[in-house]
Amino acid sequence: MADALLQLENVRAGYGEAVVLDGVSLTVPQGGSLAVLGRNGVGKTTLLLTIMGFVDLMQGSVSFRGQDISRLAPHRRARAGLGWVPQERDIFASLTVEENLTATARAGRWNLDGVYSLFPRLRERRSNMGNQLSGGEQQMLAIARTLMTNPSILILDEPLEGLAPIIVEELIAKIGAMASEEGMALVLVEQHAEVALGLTEQAIVIERGVVAHAARSADLLNDQATLDRYVGLNLVEN
Ligand SMILES: Nc1ncnc2c1ncn2[C@@H]1O[C@H](COP(=O)(O)OP(=O)(O)O)[C@@H](O)[C@H]1O
Ligand SMILES: [Mg+2]
Repeated sequence: MADALLQLENVRAGYGEAVVLDGVSLTVPQGGSLAVLGRNGVGKTTLLLTIMGFVDLMQGSVSFRGQDISRLAPHRRARAGLGWVPQERDIFASLTVEENLTATARAGRWNLDGVYSLFPRLRERRSNMGNQLSGGEQQMLAIARTLMTNPSILILDEPLEGLAPIIVEELIAKIGAMASEEGMALVLVEQHAEVALGLTEQAIVIERGVVAHAARSADLLNDQATLDRYVGLNLVEN
C-alpha cells in the first residue's frame, strides 16, 4: 500500500519453540488507527513486542515508512518514530514525573507544556516520584512520556487495564483527542472492545495466531455476532 506507515506481512513470531503468531498481516496508513482485539492470551502483546523488536521474527516482515525494519534494534525503532506504551507501564520509579517526561524526549510538536495541558494532573504531580503515583497517574505518565518522543505512531497496550471507571473515562477522552490529532497514527490493543472500536477507524481480531477478522471499526461495533464469537465476554463493560 502506497501510503502505508506500518505494515506487517505474513509474520510468524513467538518464544523459543512456541509459535504464537503465524501468518499475521496488517497495515496502518499514515495517520490511521487500528484496534487490535482478541481474547486473553491470543498474542496481542506479542504482536506489539514483535513490532517493537523485542520478540524474534521467525518469518515475514515488519516495515515502517516502506523500509524493512525487521532487523532494527528496539531503541532504533523507537527513534524512527514507533511510540510504544507497554502493558506494564514501566515508568522510572526513582525519577520525578518531569524527569520521566524529559528523559527520553525528542523535539517536535509534543513538549512539556503540551502533555501537561493534555494531562493537568501530571503538572500537579511534576515533582513527585514515579513510585508515588496512582495507577491512573502512572498510565497517564506512560502515555505522556511516549508522546514526548514525538512518535509518528502511538502503540498502546491495554491502557485502561486496572484503572478506576472515572480514570478510564478521562483516558478514553484523551486518547480520542490524540487520535484525532493530525498526523499521528494509533494502534490500540484493548480488552474493552466497544471503547477500542469507538476510538479507531479499522479493527482486527486475533485468534489462533492469525487475523481471524478484519473490518472497519464502526461496522464491527454493530456486528454483535462476530464480537460474541471472537471477543466474547470481554465486550461486557465493567
Ligand atoms: N515471555 C514469554 N515466554 C513464553 N511464552 C510467552 C511469553 N509471553 C507470553 N507468552 C505466551 O504467548 C501467548 C500470547 O501471550 P500475549 O501476547 O501476552 O497475549 P495477549 O496480550 O493477547 O493476552 C500466551 O500463550 C502466553 O502464555
Ligand atoms: Mg497483553
